[in-house]
Amino acid sequence: MTKSKHGFSVTELTANKAKHLTRSPSFKKLTKEDLDYFYAILPRDNILVAYNELGNNDELLKHSTDWYNLFRGSPSAVLFPETTEQVSQLLTYCNKQHIAVVPQSGNTSASGGSVPVFDEIIISLKKMNKIHSFDELKGDLICDAGCVLEDVDEYLLSFGYQFPLDLPSRHLCQIGGNISTNAGGIRQMRFGNLHGNVTGLEVVTGEGTIINTLTTLRKDNTGYHLKNLFIGSEGTLAIVTKIAITTARLRQGINVFVFGFATFEQVVQAFSKAKKCLPETISAFEVLDRESIECVAQLGYQQPSNAVFPISTQHNLYVIMETAGTDPEYENKKAIKFTEDLLKEGIALNGIVAKDEAEATSFWSWRTMLPRAIVQQGPSSIHFDISLPLPLLYQLVTDTRAWARENDMIGKDIHAIFGYGHVGDGNMHLSIPALRVDEELRKTVDDFVYGWTSQYNGSISAEHGIGLMKRSYLSYTKSRSSISSMRQIKDVFDPNGILNPYKLLPTEKEENDGAIIRKRADVGC
Ligand code: LAC
Ligand code: ZN
Repeated sequence: MTKSKHGFSVTELTANKAKHLTRSPSFKKLTKEDLDYFYAILPRDNILVAYNELGNNDELLKHSTDWYNLFRGSPSAVLFPETTEQVSQLLTYCNKQHIAVVPQSGNTSASGGSVPVFDEIIISLKKMNKIHSFDELKGDLICDAGCVLEDVDEYLLSFGYQFPLDLPSRHLCQIGGNISTNAGGIRQMRFGNLHGNVTGLEVVTGEGTIINTLTTLRKDNTGYHLKNLFIGSEGTLAIVTKIAITTARLRQGINVFVFGFATFEQVVQAFSKAKKCLPETISAFEVLDRESIECVAQLGYQQPSNAVFPISTQHNLYVIMETAGTDPEYENKKAIKFTEDLLKEGIALNGIVAKDEAEATSFWSWRTMLPRAIVQQGPSSIHFDISLPLPLLYQLVTDTRAWARENDMIGKDIHAIFGYGHVGDGNMHLSIPALRVDEELRKTVDDFVYGWTSQYNGSISAEHGIGLMKRSYLSYTKSRSSISSMRQIKDVFDPNGILNPYKLLPTEKEENDGAIIRKRADVGC
């Protein structure tokens, strides 16, 4: 396989393109003795070795390349443990031998966090995919880290429950990765983030120690909340092996709306009205610009593929909104009234409510298929998940477009700029398919967007995490003292730094450079 998952040439090795990165000499190169040790712990089929006699190169490439075709490592081996004890044995050994390890779930990371930079081995959790228990009364679920989000959701559906997280990559991503990146997604405004829903975790630290906080108790104020340290730590402190999480009751009265707007101010007005009029039931409020809708339509990625967009008039911005209540009849009445009021008051220029479940699924497909449509627009895409004060959300897109036009980049360096995001969480996505894979180009765009974000006191990562992609920009958002505490915490759980090296924490130089930008933003220049 020389093609990426999206049909382009597979990206160059990160080690060759990212000249500023050097392999740490403190990490050992994998030897035959190391492999023999792994073979003593795991069944033969649970080890994939680089370019071995079994011809597993395609399989290896899948684990080595990220979903956006931006990063590619050359792992010396991919290991597939089946139990927590095996993970512990492997990490105990790797820690002693100074073998660098990348934990991997569904490998849908949007920040280059789930693939090696150099020859780090991968520990994949995909064979640890059992559901251990479900409490039908309280909705508490305990499952393995390697369970696929969609599979867990289907399991819960049979009990009338749903997982408190939904992502466009639900068919691929795994719960362990969701936890490790503190994934947000489409319904976070309804369910709250994973720090609230996860009640406990089982993890294996960089030293191989198993820490079990796997409780389903809702209240447990006994000391530091360790699980909260591991949520969002991107595999740099420990490998998550099991999860205890509170799930949500499914609602019967679901309505999905599509609205059209001329300006983002109108979108904010509509959001404010929805929060006021539908406070108990609003569960998603997603904005997409016209360019985004056209991108999905062009490829026919909507479902069904011949479906026309529910609103025929062209607008600058669209919102897909969802409400979920218990009484379908009552919810339907409220949905119609809300839509009528929004139109009457001139807030929305157009609006429609899905008439049945099939139409609701179709409406949603314009949003859920968008990331897949965008990555087809160029050999690699530069993408962002920025948090900002609500009124500024879309200005990020218009200012970036103006900057790209001024610099004559559109059509020359980049294909287009797409803006969409989770209004309910103040989280904007900016996706920029590049016309070539070019690290310098990516840095130019990153410098502009993260500098802009810092100027408005936003966060450079709302939900995708830092990974490798944003490491050098962490101090645009985080203070020196915060980063220093992060380093100390890393030392506690992973003293030899074997877990997901080169990710999340910046080098001293990157930290200093970023701190200058942040300081400038603080004093308003
Ligand atoms: C989404 C992913 C890209 O919201 O975060 O579609
Ligand atoms: Zn998102």
